[in-house]
Amino acid sequence: MNSFVDAAVEQFARDHTKPEADLYARLREETYRVMESPQMQVGVIEGRFLKMLVRLISARTVLEIGMFTGYSTLMMADGLPEDARIITCDINPKAEAIAKRYFAESPSGYKIEVRMGPALETIKTLSGPLDLVFIDGDKVNYSNYYEACLPLLKPGGLIVADNVLWSGKVVAPKDETDHAIVAFNRLVQSDERVENVCLTIRDGMMLAWKR
Ligand SMILES: C[S@@+](CC[C@H](N)C(=O)[O-])C[C@H]1O[C@@H](n2cnc3c(N)ncnc32)[C@H](O)[C@@H]1O
Repeated sequence: MNSFVDAAVEQFARDHTKPEADLYARLREETYRVMESPQMQVGVIEGRFLKMLVRLISARTVLEIGMFTGYSTLMMADGLPEDARIITCDINPKAEAIAKRYFAESPSGYKIEVRMGPALETIKTLSGPLDLVFIDGDKVNYSNYYEACLPLLKPGGLIVADNVLWSGKVVAPKDETDHAIVAFNRLVQSDERVENVCLTIRDGMMLAWKR
């Protein structure tokens, strides 16, 4: 994944972020070796940032939309206390098989509940309250995920959405996905139910804090 930050500066930031544990390095290596579009995986900086957010808000129930091979899932699980949980959604069985192997190996794996199937269907089965929702699934549904999850989020909870700058294409949107990401950003920006900040970390992260 390209960063908006100069490559040498990005490397400096990585060098001054606690390195990933061996399990994460192996997961990253395998993902890049066997999966299509491996750059979808959040890297160590965003992963550690997610873990930090989970810790800072003392989250106990997290929902992730878009598990892929589980890098971000594991990072957030590591940030959770022992008796907390993260529900994660995906539709790709090949990614699921990889993720589950690493979850089984991780001391935090028992906190993770995998729900396969379209995330909008999974969300309908949840009752909340959720402390944090990480939206990183199919981009055309970002606004739908946001609207479906916000009522389940407790006041003071966080919605975090990845790729909201979409490699910069948001400033001159062309295809359906570009427009969907722009519409999502507009939706959050105009929503009085939340306070929000759009960050330039990696491919852009929107943080929306529910009032
Ligand atoms: C950007 S990747 C997630 C990356 C992951 N968070 C990580 O750090 O490794 C997006 C994932 O969303 C999944 N996805 C796509 N459409 C979905 C849907 N309707 N419901 C649930 N997951 C979906 C894809 O299969 C893919 O694995």
